[in-house]
Amino acid sequence: MSITIKSPEDIEKMRVAGRLAGEVLDYIEPFVKPGISSAELDKLCHDYMVNIQDCVPAPLNYAPPGYQPYPKSICASINHQVCHGVPNDRPLKKGDIVNLDITTIKDGWHGDTSRMFLVGGEVSILARRLVAITHECLWVGISAVKPGGHLGDVGAAIQRHAEKNGYSVVKEFCGHGIGRHFHEEPQVLHYGKRGDGPRLETGMVFTIEPMINAGKAAISELPDGWTIVTKDRSLSAQWEHTIAVTATGYEVLTLSAGAQPKPAGLP
Ligand code: MF3
Ligand code: CO
Ligand code: CO
Repeated sequence: MSITIKSPEDIEKMRVAGRLAGEVLDYIEPFVKPGISSAELDKLCHDYMVNIQDCVPAPLNYAPPGYQPYPKSICASINHQVCHGVPNDRPLKKGDIVNLDITTIKDGWHGDTSRMFLVGGEVSILARRLVAITHECLWVGISAVKPGGHLGDVGAAIQRHAEKNGYSVVKEFCGHGIGRHFHEEPQVLHYGKRGDGPRLETGMVFTIEPMINAGKAAISELPDGWTIVTKDRSLSAQWEHTIAVTATGYEVLTLSAGAQPKPAGLP
């Protein structure tokens, strides 16, 4: 399959799915406190998506080639977990950092977004800085999106910002085209060279979702077949939005009332 171009009507439907995904994160935010488990957060999000939003949680039973069906409705990646953390019964602790990744399907179209949450009031300076710089990495990537540019411009901007701040970029997982399918072409690398890769065209829709490690870039997979962790057990952070290429630049399709704004004063 190749990169599909979405019509204005398609993008209107993706705006709806995207906003709903963002609104799940708005909804769950007050529940992310010490003592709650990621399985409880999963159940709350699942019920909200199905019963309140009337949409489908895309992760549940999602089974790309070579994977077991994903058993839950959200991903919850804590501390040294990089992505695809499978929710479980362990309570969150003060000082944890957790990524919650939500993908909705509404009217056949997908919206995919994730945020970092600080658990309790005692998160280390190092963890806060990693979370903040990773959010900046997301936005330097988004800011590089414009028609006529290249996907490599996005990766290069992210890599430069992460490495300049002493962090490393996970290479094995990337952003992705999205639309009627959860994962479509193109692959959106979070590293690379300006001018490389496919040319960006109005109507392309893809996610940008950098995974940034405080230590080395290497990862490993847990025996559950899904959860990815840093090999050196250093902290990892991730933020994600779904982006449409517009005639003048970009539109973020996964904004909602509680979304963090673009950080001020980015390069
Ligand atoms: N939401 C993830 C992404 O951003 C993918 C999760 S796949 C799942 O691409 F099966 F783990 F949900
Ligand atoms: Co994604
Ligand atoms: Co996601």
